[in-house]
Amino acid sequence: MPHPKRTVLVTGGMGGLGETISTKMADDGYQVAVTYSPGNTKHSQWVTEMKGRGYDFVAVECDVADIDSCARAVAEVESKLGPIDVLVNNAGITRDMTFKKMDKVNWDAVLRTNLDSLFNMTKQVADGMTERGWGRIINVSSVNGSKGAFGQTNYSAAKAGVHGFTKALALEVARKNVTVNTISPGYIGTKMVTAIPKDILDSKILPQIPLGRLGKPEEVAGLIIYLASEEAAFVTGANIAINGGQHMQ
Ligand code: CAA
Repeated sequence: MPHPKRTVLVTGGMGGLGETISTKMADDGYQVAVTYSPGNTKHSQWVTEMKGRGYDFVAVECDVADIDSCARAVAEVESKLGPIDVLVNNAGITRDMTFKKMDKVNWDAVLRTNLDSLFNMTKQVADGMTERGWGRIINVSSVNGSKGAFGQTNYSAAKAGVHGFTKALALEVARKNVTVNTISPGYIGTKMVTAIPKDILDSKILPQIPLGRLGKPEEVAGLIIYLASEEAAFVTGANIAINGGQHMQ
């Protein structure tokens, strides 16, 4: 179904999953803005490359772990594209290590970037969505938030927290036609996953995936496009797994 031209903001929109979400949503007719992290020195090159491929993205610097940075980033996007209709909280990091080796710095980094970010970003757009009576908030969690993962006490805790946030906020904004959902991808072929030592990936992870392969970023983007659509208006507070059968709830 064609939709009115909506604006989407994808955090971490230049990353492994984020770039595919951004391009697929642009293909679907959205105006797309992306955030990139302050350390990203390749952002102008990325924007230029994307222009070459026919994509006109607004890209803004944003540390999703810092609420003031989020406020500045959203203000900049809104000044260029107008109100944000769809927020995809996609930015995330890993700092994998066994709990024995984990220190507070690596615990905090993951909790702040993967969980505090939901408060920091959503705070900037939720009131506008409820006032306009339409909005979509899509939070990217992980299979490892549902089932746990060896070496990921920090990441699994943050990703489990994502869905608690989703459910509570979904209740609060439902009457204003704002939906809030979680998606929980499994192991997708992005650099976050290909950074896992190959022997661990081959011996411990791939054998757990009934489909016998990594997921494709396009498959995740397709789910996000569905959740952002008019047809998904009745889906809220859900946690949709997309993991090749690795974990069934
Ligand atoms: N399950 C069971 N045992 C495991 C295991 C696993 N997934 N991973 C490692 N082990 C075992 C090893 O086989 C090894 O056993 P032995 O001592 O008997 O040989 C022991 O644990 C220690 O393993 P390492 O030598 O690898 O220990 P390390 O400290 O060097 O590394 C680690 C530990 C960093 C956790 C490393 O194993 C690792 O990177 N694992 C992958 C973690 C993972 O799955 N991350 C997901 C990233 S992708 C993502 O997060 C996206 C998403 O949302 C899905």
